[in-house]
Amino acid sequence: MPAAAPAGTYTLVVVSNRLPVDYEEAPDGTVTWRTSPGGLVTALEPLMRSSHGAWVGWPGVADRDFEPFENDGISLVPVRLTETDIEDYYEGFSNDTLWPLYHDVIAPPSFHRETWDAYVAVNRRFAASAVAVAAPGATVWVHDYQLQLVPRMLREARPDLVIGFFNHIPFPPYGIYAQLPWRKQILHGLLGADVIGFQRVADAGNFSQAVRRLFGYPTRGVVIDVPSGEDGDSRRVIAKHFPISIDAAAYDELARRPEIQARARQIREDLGNPKTLMLGVDRLDYTKGIGHRIKAFGELLADGRLSVEDVTLVQIASPSRERVSTYMALRDEIELAVGRLNGDFSTISHTAISYHHHSYPREEMVAMYLAADVMLVTALRDGMNLVAKEYVAVRFDVDGVLVLSEFAGAADELKQAILINPHDIDGTKDAMVRAVEMPKRERTRRMRSLRRKVAENDVAAWSASFLRALTGGAAVPAGIPDDLDAELESLARVENLLIALDFDGTLAPHVDHPEDARAVEGTREAVQALLDLPGVRVALVSGRALVSLQHVAQPQSSVLLTGSHGIEVQLDTPEIELNLLSSELEQLDILARVLGAISASVSGTTVERKPAGLALHTRLASEKGGQTAQRQAREQLSEQLPGLTVREGINVLEFSVRSSTKGDALQKLREYTGADRVFYAGDDVTDEDAFSVLGDDDLGLKIGQGATLARYRVRSPKEVTEVLIRIAALRSGQTS
Ligand code: G6P
Repeated sequence: MPAAAPAGTYTLVVVSNRLPVDYEEAPDGTVTWRTSPGGLVTALEPLMRSSHGAWVGWPGVADRDFEPFENDGISLVPVRLTETDIEDYYEGFSNDTLWPLYHDVIAPPSFHRETWDAYVAVNRRFAASAVAVAAPGATVWVHDYQLQLVPRMLREARPDLVIGFFNHIPFPPYGIYAQLPWRKQILHGLLGADVIGFQRVADAGNFSQAVRRLFGYPTRGVVIDVPSGEDGDSRRVIAKHFPISIDAAAYDELARRPEIQARARQIREDLGNPKTLMLGVDRLDYTKGIGHRIKAFGELLADGRLSVEDVTLVQIASPSRERVSTYMALRDEIELAVGRLNGDFSTISHTAISYHHHSYPREEMVAMYLAADVMLVTALRDGMNLVAKEYVAVRFDVDGVLVLSEFAGAADELKQAILINPHDIDGTKDAMVRAVEMPKRERTRRMRSLRRKVAENDVAAWSASFLRALTGGAAVPAGIPDDLDAELESLARVENLLIALDFDGTLAPHVDHPEDARAVEGTREAVQALLDLPGVRVALVSGRALVSLQHVAQPQSSVLLTGSHGIEVQLDTPEIELNLLSSELEQLDILARVLGAISASVSGTTVERKPAGLALHTRLASEKGGQTAQRQAREQLSEQLPGLTVREGINVLEFSVRSSTKGDALQKLREYTGADRVFYAGDDVTDEDAFSVLGDDDLGLKIGQGATLARYRVRSPKEVTEVLIRIAALRSGQTS
């Protein structure tokens, strides 16, 4: 095997408990690296291959040292775990404490101080391995509940790194999370990341709530301000949902292969060609609701609503965590239930449940999915459940019915499945019968919509949106991207549409003197075209003081205006709304004195007075001078006016006596206009506050490079104008 590149050169490093391959040694001594279990592998493999990153993880065997090596185009960096580490860190704290705690305490979590100590020590080892291979400024993406302390450890060792974390499993509600004796340490560990990804909106919300309750840090939408130093500085951490997916095209492609279809037919034949084949595919885990599924199936057979002559249930239960006692007990319980049910209902020619305690290669799974008329996903709690997505991706014949637990993350997206509450056995039974009896037309209609969903958000889209939020990604091409154009069409159709636009850097290129900024040619006409259309409102959302915004933008009178990050608003009135307390006015005076003195001593810096604050502009100063001025301002003001809101933009540091963000401004505008959907375009970090309050139906457009929560990106103000013209054309029906 070729040796991997030398340490410290990888610009993308993935860290997860397991490497994507497991070490296996046959009795004759032959060594193989087998693709390891778990959804993560399938999810990240394509990304790792295309970006030539390194993957840090455990090779699945105890007490063995391996040099970094390359496998299938991916550089692997094995982390050694001793037998005791496996018992305490992996089986103990990860899978007997965190796993049950994070899955709604379906099984009781254990809390042991020794296993916590092992968790800390092993997390440190993973962090050290990542630190050793990461290039300066590299992006490190840490995965899952086994490694929640790693982000902080990385940040402390290497502040140059960009750090992402993705939690593949649920994050529990505060009432449950609070049971954890080390609840603060875990949050602190996670908050070392720049972006913390979750599967569902609810998981990200639970996390932010835990941060508020335990640390009191301010949160705004998906943004958490984490104090980062003595001088009142804070780091912006994003906690947001990024639902994971699969390589949908690869599953589709496999399913279309003639040999796999032949295998699917063979499976049905071997089972005696039942009218309906039901399928369950799970790791043998108590979160999967396998027992509930078997109970419901057994009752349907007992009630005579289903019969073994017609229906067979194939249950694949892949072995998992077999030395953890809860898992041993579960296996006994499930196998007893299967045995009983088969004893009660199977005939010589028909087996009720065909049960398999194995894992199978992907090809065989695809054949099973193709063979199955009904797929049962009855998880009691599940981060995402990729099996549900795999089933959908495989069904290129646009047939088959997915019965899906609403407690699986996939239920947030796969709304056209038959959604069930698996605790409700009667409801689950009804859903199973409905699935068996569903007419072809309805099956096709539902499957078509499910397939669209899975194809749209495949694993490439998932990792791209996470990395966009984390790093900003690659250079932005000119023009309107095709996928944006498709979305503009649906956006243009809504009844009430709000088009909210930042000014500097979005409509107008950045210039050296802020008062010289002007919108690019054609913007005024584009805005006018939008204003002429019924049901459309246009707003400017700026960090500038309103007076300054009016001066540079010269907006039409029906344009809604918000300035000073939402502190000033002018909504269809001649007056500007703004109220400041006398204490705030006093603070403004002190602020003006401090910044005035700094600006006088560092050449090239200027101070802009705003209604509720002041901005120190350093664009024209030397790099060193700019940094010095900004540092002095931060230091002096954190002492004299500790409660100020500090905001950093491109070559500008702004201090406000009242905290407000462009997110607040946008919320106000949304409320005022009663818009059904919102389009927001912006270029700067302060625009991220606005992107963070956009809903799934809204559309965010980022201008230029940089990390962003916006779904789309264009290169420059020129393209923004093109987008505005396009929206106006689409809405007025004047499109080619
Ligand atoms: C879940 C977890 C993964 C884990 C997988 C298999 O999908 O989110 O992190 O790898 O289960 O579990 P195991 O304990 O065998 O790694």
